[in-house]
Amino acid sequence: MSVKIIVGTQWGDEGKGKITDMLAEQVDLVVRYQGGNNAGHTVVVGPNTFKLHLIPSGILYESVQCVIGNGVVVDPEILLEELGRLKEQGVHVTPDRLKISTIAHVILPYHKFLDSQQEEGRSAGDKIGTTGRGIGPAYTDKISRTGVRLLDLLDKEGLKKKCEAHNWPQAFQDRLSIDDMVDQYFELGQRLAPFLEDTSLFVNDAIQAGKRIIMEGAQGTLLDVDHGTYPFVTSSNPIAGAACVGAGIGPHKIDQVIGVTKAYSTRVGEGPFPTEEHAEMGEYLRDKGCEYGTTTERPRRCGWLDMVVLRYAIRVNGLTEICLTKLDVLDGLKKIKVCTGYKWNGETIKHFPLDPKVFGESEPIYDEVPGWDEDISGITDFDKLPVNAKNYIKYVSNLAGIPISMISVGSKRSQTIHLLERH
Ligand code: IMP
Repeated sequence: MSVKIIVGTQWGDEGKGKITDMLAEQVDLVVRYQGGNNAGHTVVVGPNTFKLHLIPSGILYESVQCVIGNGVVVDPEILLEELGRLKEQGVHVTPDRLKISTIAHVILPYHKFLDSQQEEGRSAGDKIGTTGRGIGPAYTDKISRTGVRLLDLLDKEGLKKKCEAHNWPQAFQDRLSIDDMVDQYFELGQRLAPFLEDTSLFVNDAIQAGKRIIMEGAQGTLLDVDHGTYPFVTSSNPIAGAACVGAGIGPHKIDQVIGVTKAYSTRVGEGPFPTEEHAEMGEYLRDKGCEYGTTTERPRRCGWLDMVVLRYAIRVNGLTEICLTKLDVLDGLKKIKVCTGYKWNGETIKHFPLDPKVFGESEPIYDEVPGWDEDISGITDFDKLPVNAKNYIKYVSNLAGIPISMISVGSKRSQTIHLLERH
């Protein structure tokens, strides 16, 4: 038996999709436990590029079953579109291969409407830069105990009552009446019905049967609604602890927690980012790393690797190892900066500051390590890496205090260096 959690250690977009895809080859089940279609994974397999938002990337292996757990918020239309696109690309997803929790909450049209209204209503410095997918309002309804769950879509009368109880503003109902919405969502529910299941029971049975399982987190640690850079966060908990809640399993079932860390940092949307590079270096990383959002195509803000953030992610997730991604993007740099601490108000800060004012005003303290000229994107053996690339990896691993188990040097499955034997 083995249950591994994969989490992002930065602001999302660390390359979790590729790492999940790589590890999925050796597992039976991949479970998504939070977030919604605000996430996006791009997985390149041979000549095909798959863009996934809700369905775990494990779906690309025929032998792997996938689960969308109760902690996810599901936009039924988007999910069905994603299933349709996969079919067009030759991946036929049957209900045997994809199980969706009956009690996952639904993103309704009103949630998307409200998400953009709220964002428009925020003044310049307060904007969050949400993906506009209705994520925050859907989780708000969940926590307020007024949400609609997937099983509710199967009961037309009950669904109508729940929607009417909301008293949605007339401005919204002028666009879409409750009756039309109920018809539409009942129909979507019928199409999803074959996939709906008690996924906690399903996952626990799989654990009991000794199956190998990956729990896949979306977004990243610094976007966690509790532990991230609040309020510039998403409305769920991407951190490892949430995997138990979002899938309905006990903490003692988890064996490993793998953190995915990009060799530099990126952030989409607003919020503090101490190691951000505003000038040429930021642009260089964005262009070389193709740093544009999979979901919204927005350019990502780019900067150097921040060890204060990484050490914090190691702590709050209980990471047991790190997968370092996009190392090839650093090829050709004479010097590589790594932030080892912050200066704030004359003090040196080593631990992630919880006060957003302090984090926002922190100045990074950098170490500089020598870079390498060679193109490493074709290297699959650690020993063949340029000496400075090896030194960089050892340096990061030493500062992190946990092993780096895998290094990604390109988007293809083959562009990976394995450093630990997997069992
Ligand atoms: P929301 O999740 O759409 O509410 O957006 C809240 C914040 O999280 C915004 O800054 C988004 O850009 C960011 N965000 C949400 N999902 C992702 C993701 O998958 N990758 C990176 N940033 C994300």
